[in-house]
Amino acid sequence: MNDYIIQTKNLTKKYGNNTVVDGVHINVRRGHVYGLLGRNGAGKTTIMKMLLGLSSISAGEVHLFGQPLNKNQSKLYPRIGSIVEIPGFYPNLTGTENLQIFARLRGTIKKDAVKRALETVDLPYNDSKKFAAYSLGMKQRLGIANALLNDPELLILDEPTNGLDPIGIAEIRAFIRSLSTEYGKTILISSHILSEIALMADDIGIIDKGVLLEESTMAELEKKNNKYIRVCVSSQSQAAHVLEHSLAISDYSVEADNSIRIYDTTVNPEELNKRLVTAGVGVSTIQICNDNLEEYFKKITGGAGIA
Ligand SMILES: Nc1ncnc2c1ncn2[C@@H]1O[C@H](COP(=O)(O)OP(=O)(O)O)[C@@H](O)[C@H]1O
Ligand SMILES: [Mg+2]
Repeated sequence: MNDYIIQTKNLTKKYGNNTVVDGVHINVRRGHVYGLLGRNGAGKTTIMKMLLGLSSISAGEVHLFGQPLNKNQSKLYPRIGSIVEIPGFYPNLTGTENLQIFARLRGTIKKDAVKRALETVDLPYNDSKKFAAYSLGMKQRLGIANALLNDPELLILDEPTNGLDPIGIAEIRAFIRSLSTEYGKTILISSHILSEIALMADDIGIIDKGVLLEESTMAELEKKNNKYIRVCVSSQSQAAHVLEHSLAISDYSVEADNSIRIYDTTVNPEELNKRLVTAGVGVSTIQICNDNLEEYFKKITGGAGIA
């Protein structure tokens, strides 16, 4: 059995001279929730569209369920459910009626498919509430139920919590986790909000300007990137010089508040202090800090916060 449900190699999308997805390798493991994190415009939707055949691939390869996509589309797509573009539900029909229409359009064969899909997302079957009266969270869940009609092994959900209120977000989050843990689905989700991915995903791919900056498990990422040393100094440029030339530290950032953050926490603070002071740099504070992942994301995307 192939352990990877999605693998891309060098996946690239160009619009004219503009490369919006640039040589991306992602590896989505069977039964895992994989979160694609990136700011608006990073290329998340484009990646998903290429996986689903909604957008052509400029270069690179996609393997789904261990098989090359280009030769097996008609065989592989029925195994995938997705929401990339919001399905146009009929406002004056109930959730059940809407799904019945979609099931018919899609040639869904199983008789109880609609009922089961609604049950899975915890929406009522055959009730009288019209789609127009649904909360946003319910609408989103109906969208997911629609994606689940064929009982797919893989779900691709583009920003499933976008636009929801905190309660709706919590619902969808729990529900996506349960699709993986209780139903064994493999799920690719995207979000521009780090905390969403952190709470939902087992694995994370961080994308910025079309480039995959990092791929790892959430657990590894949390372990690896929570700590840094914060030094407040009289001169950041002098301090940076000392870090690079005297201590061979290159993994640091210069902050707006006269501090420098050193992400290599094996650095000995005493030694650091001594070297800086010897070089004539005033040091007012040295702290070991434990931040959330937000800081790390800022650092690797080289910019301000994302949420
Ligand atoms: N049809 C298109 N033609 C030209 N550029 C596009 C098209 N679709 C998306 N883009 C560009 O590709 C980049 C990535 O977009 P997208 O994949 O939607 O990002 P995300 O989903 O991460 O917000 C953006 O700069 C966007 O403007
Ligand atoms: Mg998008």
